Amino acid sequence: MRCQSLRGMRDIIGEEAEKISSAEKCARKIFRSFNYEEVRLPIMEEASLFLRGIGDTSDIVEKQLYIFKDKGERTVALRPEGTASAVRCYIQNNLHNLPLTKIFYCGSMFRYERPQEGRYREFYQIGCEYFGNPHYSADVEIILLAHRILSECGAKKHKIFINSVGCRECRPGLSAAIAEYADKIKNGLCSDCQRRARKNPLRILDCKVDSAKLENFPESFSLICPNCLRSFNGVKNLLGELGVSAYLNPKLVRGLDYYTGTVFEITSELLGAQSTIAAGGRYDRLVEELGGKQTPAVGFALGAERLALASEPINNKIENKYFIIAEDENFLSHATKLGNALREKNIITEWPLLGRSFKSQLNCANKLNFDFVIIFSDEHFDKNEIIIKKMSDGTQKVLEINSFLENL
Ligand code: HAM
Repeated sequence: MRCQSLRGMRDIIGEEAEKISSAEKCARKIFRSFNYEEVRLPIMEEASLFLRGIGDTSDIVEKQLYIFKDKGERTVALRPEGTASAVRCYIQNNLHNLPLTKIFYCGSMFRYERPQEGRYREFYQIGCEYFGNPHYSADVEIILLAHRILSECGAKKHKIFINSVGCRECRPGLSAAIAEYADKIKNGLCSDCQRRARKNPLRILDCKVDSAKLENFPESFSLICPNCLRSFNGVKNLLGELGVSAYLNPKLVRGLDYYTGTVFEITSELLGAQSTIAAGGRYDRLVEELGGKQTPAVGFALGAERLALASEPINNKIENKYFIIAEDENFLSHATKLGNALREKNIITEWPLLGRSFKSQLNCANKLNFDFVIIFSDEHFDKNEIIIKKMSDGTQKVLEINSFLENL
């Protein structure tokens, strides 16, 4: 029987893998300039961290969590996102002793979702969390940071949407108004939304089944408290002053229950149904809810596969690749020495495929898109010379090995 990867868990190969690695590299550089430090968080945690942190009525916990018992009968879960783990890390390592803590992470997350393009069961996130700053300027920093990473990593045509989902004081009123309106139109609600109306009314606004019904739902701006409204207007205005356009979307709520105040999503026109590349917001209660001191926090995460889908193909043609051909084993030592010398200069180089004919080695170089082949042959070897053949036009020249290396 042929082995297959699990549904929704993919091998990421070639250009896509390269795009994800270069996005991580580019993001690391930008995070550092915003004074964030890298953390590597465990892939598995006690399941209760996610049940408490993300909210047990969220789809992520109700339907998508990979949860199971380990050999010690502990109930554990694969992380569906990074924020809950980052908060656990913040509390466990006493990072609150610092005046502020800014951390970032890259890695795979797991959600048992229905796979389609841009939505997988294992996917990669690049994310960050900013602890200890209650001011809306921190919300702006996070949005700016997400926007900058997307722009520099080549995401085309992205748009920022912002909203406020209210705080401890005004959220109950916002939820009640939504529940009241949902009750009026309850026959038009899908079964999921009927359940949400009882358990978590705000989530109705995120319904993907029938968004037309959401048209006349109450809007957050008219229901949030003056403090939340002030912060929200502050975010909007400061972004404007920094030259970043953000669109207001009073129906924007998030799939995770920990948010308070500002929330945002960044979408790309180039993506299909799964158009959100990055998302985040403020969560001022989570640290306390997970057993730490009351600490304001804000963060975001972007989906690396979606970023790869929304960005231009990588232009790989900046470097020349060399394929060494040697017809028999007599050349092995010299050919591999030359190969090593090229590799030490970080030039992509392939050693001779001994055991294959000259023609077969040349075919390989061609199929693998090498720019040059280096040929070791009886005719030139005594003079310490090699033939360099340019694959694009077939031209070739004979060079002495040392002068070839010196002139690279
Ligand atoms: P999220 O919106 O659940 O937020 O995920 C962030 C991003 O991860 C999404 O915008 C999307 O690009 C990507 N993503 C999510 N699910 C999938 C999937 N199944 N397949 C591919 N990509 C996916 C969070 O995870 C929060 N922790 C963000 C945050 C950080 N909020 C505050 N701090």
